[in-house]
Amino acid sequence: MKALVLAGGSGTRLRPITHTSAKQLVPVANKPVLFYGLEAIAQAGIQELGLVVGDTHAEIEAAVGDGSAFGLQVTYLRQQAPLGLAHGVLIARDYLGDDDFVMYLGDNFVVGGINDLVHRFARDRPAAQILLTRVGDPTQFGVAELDAEGRVIGLEEKPERPKSDLALVGVYLFSPAVHAAVAELKPSWRGELEITDAIQWLIESGQRVESSVITGYWKDTGNVTDMLEVNRLVLESVEPRIEGRVDEASELIGRVAIEPGAVVERSRVVGPAIIGGGARIQDSYVGPYTSIGASCAVVGSEIEYSIVLPRASIAGVGRIESSLIGHDVEVTPAPNTPKAHRLVLGDHSKVQISS
Ligand code: DAU
Repeated sequence: MKALVLAGGSGTRLRPITHTSAKQLVPVANKPVLFYGLEAIAQAGIQELGLVVGDTHAEIEAAVGDGSAFGLQVTYLRQQAPLGLAHGVLIARDYLGDDDFVMYLGDNFVVGGINDLVHRFARDRPAAQILLTRVGDPTQFGVAELDAEGRVIGLEEKPERPKSDLALVGVYLFSPAVHAAVAELKPSWRGELEITDAIQWLIESGQRVESSVITGYWKDTGNVTDMLEVNRLVLESVEPRIEGRVDEASELIGRVAIEPGAVVERSRVVGPAIIGGGARIQDSYVGPYTSIGASCAVVGSEIEYSIVLPRASIAGVGRIESSLIGHDVEVTPAPNTPKAHRLVLGDHSKVQISS
């Protein structure tokens, strides 16, 4: 079995973070979300992986390399434009040959890995096997309709009036039967070749499509609340370790990971939390469920339940909570007079000011 991971696309939903970087590289507990998928694939015993990349290919290639760090052999498949998930399968046709494959969307996060799914697929050999999860707003997803026995009878992509609250999770298992379906597709209303339509085609042509419902799933929806939640979840099991330097005037409580080269001085860090490599925490409080990225500085400040991306600096500000702070951002106090907020915010930024 091979894997096909989709890491192209444009990433409008996590703006402004994805104005400047690939959405699959947005970190969860200081690790790109894509890496969790690659690890899950390797853990399931799969070694050959086709990675579909688009405009952000250089950044993805720099992060993933030849895949050997994950125990994978990665072949890059360049998609000229984000023409749909099924288009990803189309351009991977030669690479995939007649092998079964797991298709994994690079911006999806599935708790608990994919071992069981892969084993079940290998045992039952349906034409396709899909994963579903209950969501609050199914209109943002592919949505499945099941019959009384739980068999999939229909799929719709981002329907205005969803027939259920069961959303398609971005992990699919396919036999080579999917290629005939993909070859028949026409672009959808949003101009994409939809994998949902390919699976619907398999159902209509009488082939077996199986499903299972999972919990513990996250997908970016532009919803920072979701990102903070998945960060919390992953930090819950972060391995406590001190690979940087913590001075005697500092206190670490609970699960705290200090990555190599990080320095903590005169500060209190209450886990679960992770402090990235080369970061500097001085005279500060870092509270539970916080990921501080590599080479950040937090000085004379308090921060909790937040994600801070690499090289951001937060100095001399009271308390920051429930926040997502991008690369190279600077947060500083304003001079005392005049008493005013001074903001330089990129397009699509969101700021909540409490005063
Ligand atoms: O995340 C689950 C959802 O993923 C499913 O419920 C939907 O049925 C499915 O169509 C898909 O929906 P999205 O429209 O949200 O997919 P998105 O455009 O975010 O792309 C998912 C991943 O695939 C992302 O890592 C980018 C990559 N991609 C996307 C397209 C359209 C490509 O590599 N090439 C593409 O052409």
